[in-house]
Amino acid sequence: NQIKIFCPATVANLSCGFDVLGLCLESIGDEMIIRKSNEKGLRITNITGADLPLETNKNVAGVAGMALLNHLDLEFGFEIEIHKKIKAGSGIGSSAASAAGVVVGINELLGNPLHRKELIPFAMEGEFLASGSYHADNVAPAILGGFILVRSYDPLEVIKIKSPKDLYVTIIHPHIEVKTSEARSILPKEIPLKTAITQWGNLGGLISGLYTEDYGLLGRSLQDAVAEPYRKNLIPEFDNAKKSALENGALGCGISGSGPSIYALSKGLENAKNVADGLKKVYIKTEIRFDVYVSKVCD
Ligand code: HSE
Repeated sequence: NQIKIFCPATVANLSCGFDVLGLCLESIGDEMIIRKSNEKGLRITNITGADLPLETNKNVAGVAGMALLNHLDLEFGFEIEIHKKIKAGSGIGSSAASAAGVVVGINELLGNPLHRKELIPFAMEGEFLASGSYHADNVAPAILGGFILVRSYDPLEVIKIKSPKDLYVTIIHPHIEVKTSEARSILPKEIPLKTAITQWGNLGGLISGLYTEDYGLLGRSLQDAVAEPYRKNLIPEFDNAKKSALENGALGCGISGSGPSIYALSKGLENAKNVADGLKKVYIKTEIRFDVYVSKVCD
């Protein structure tokens, strides 16, 4: 009647896949405890590690969980405890981890009446509360693991992309505030055809590189002509950080989701650690505090 689950952090966009690509991180995530209760509905009984509302309708996990419960129409309810380790607003899917965790946990406790993919729209309700937009590029990899492509939003179709086993992700989280809603509002609503051609060429290249384990192709494709040129101005030292990551052997580097975290993909753990050391050096020279993580891609 109780389950404890790991709610993984995620990196959305991966440069060329704005709103359509994301990956799941194996060793960074929150913990959630969910238990059945006789009372209908969902109550959040405890949150540690972050200052977040306990009210169900103001909490990302509460809203996502209630969306699922309304669909299931049960005679009983659930209580949840959330132990946050992913910092809110870091750009590695903190809200998505909560939204995904609650729906996966409830579904497990009920004996999995829904397929994992069917849980995504409920988790997206939580994401909407957090960011004001219905993107799935964090919740889908948090729920399904691995690299995920959102092939279509309407109707929702997500595809798990085969990827090499030795890909590691380095994350640096500079402690500055970038709101997803703001990082979305500064983007142009339309893009020139030339930009679109660059972007979809890279997206196709990235997917192909993942399937064929062609690291050179992966590296060439990890570029963003759509969001990064605008969003990088919200992140101090972004250009220096990216330069350092590439000089230290990263395959590619860019903004994680809507930032402020910066991600780099590397082949092998040693390379990912070297990239981490270089990124630290960039921010140590500044007043900005930061966290650095290295993680394998979670399957
Ligand atoms: N794809 C979204 C964005 C992710 O870039 O705005 C936000 O977490």
